[in-house]
Amino acid sequence: MPAQNKEDAGWKQFVWNSERKEFLGRTGGSWFKIFVFYVIFYGFLAGVFVGTIQALLLTLSTYKPTWQDRVVPPGLTHSPRSDKAELAFNLNDAETYFKYTRAMKEFLEPYNEDKQRDQMQYEDCGTVPDDYKNRGELESDIGTRKACRFERSLLGPCSGIEDREFGFKEGKPCLIIKLNRVVNFRPRPPISNETIPEDVQPKVQPNVIPLHCTNKREEDAGKIGEVKYYGIGGGFPLQYYPYYGKTLHPKYLQPLVAVQFVNLTMNQELRIECRVYGENIHDSEKDRYQGRFDIKVQIHNL
Ligand SMILES: *[C@@H]1O[C@H](CO)[C@@H](O)[C@H](O)[C@H]1NC(C)=O
Ligand SMILES: *[C@@H]1O[C@H](CO)[C@@H](O)[C@H](O)[C@H]1NC(C)=O
Repeated sequence: MPAQNKEDAGWKQFVWNSERKEFLGRTGGSWFKIFVFYVIFYGFLAGVFVGTIQALLLTLSTYKPTWQDRVVPPGLTHSPRSDKAELAFNLNDAETYFKYTRAMKEFLEPYNEDKQRDQMQYEDCGTVPDDYKNRGELESDIGTRKACRFERSLLGPCSGIEDREFGFKEGKPCLIIKLNRVVNFRPRPPISNETIPEDVQPKVQPNVIPLHCTNKREEDAGKIGEVKYYGIGGGFPLQYYPYYGKTLHPKYLQPLVAVQFVNLTMNQELRIECRVYGENIHDSEKDRYQGRFDIKVQIHNL
């Protein structure tokens, strides 16, 4: 027998040894034990894996973002919003402020009266500050919640309805300000006047989070001029809170505040800071938009 064939025979015998009824050197019974061992072993691993995932899912609520505690309190943002937090334009050149007014128009789209007609989705919550509007527990199964209407006409001359230029043309620009959405957050108004700057104290009243804009730098004192506030109570009224999240509160509208700078000093860079005051809204070194923002404004009229 040639060596080649002999080797082949040996290999074949290893694969299936008919005398000893062994497959790859093991008997059927032995193979079966190995098979059972692996089934149990991997079954166990799969069980541990599924169990861990299940336990993790159980701790997550469907509606409440688990890590939201870290983002409370909310940021304060504004429209128009630009790179470098800067608003610079020339009264005599509509091109220079067109991008701002266009952004404001887009921003206000959902606040059009005709977008809020659906009685199943919206309700009136009054135009004076009122207490929180409780719409049931986050976890209860009553489904989607109605949203309070907020019509842009509340923003007066900054509504874009009559003055399509939002005051930019006259050098009296408006800013529209909102407090970012935070699920289940109830902003609390200041309970005393003690830590509130004197200018803001008259704005401290029940059921509203006051907003105030002023010069950021000492050297701009007196250059900002009068600031007018429009909206409900000149701040963020509590009846718009809490927000129940995208799923349960799909039509939710944030209350807005419009500020109009009616006597800004021209041809100079000014720095303006706007800030909200609340018991549970604090300044943060880490997040410069938390409860406040500042913006550079420069209007040319030459
Ligand atoms: C804060 O002061 C203003 C006037 O200075 C007053 O109208 C308001 O009631 C005061 N608010 C509180 C909470 O003390
Ligand atoms: C506008 O501001 C200037 C100072 O910058 C002041 O002299 C003037 O009286 C102000 N006008 C109004 C209407 O407040």
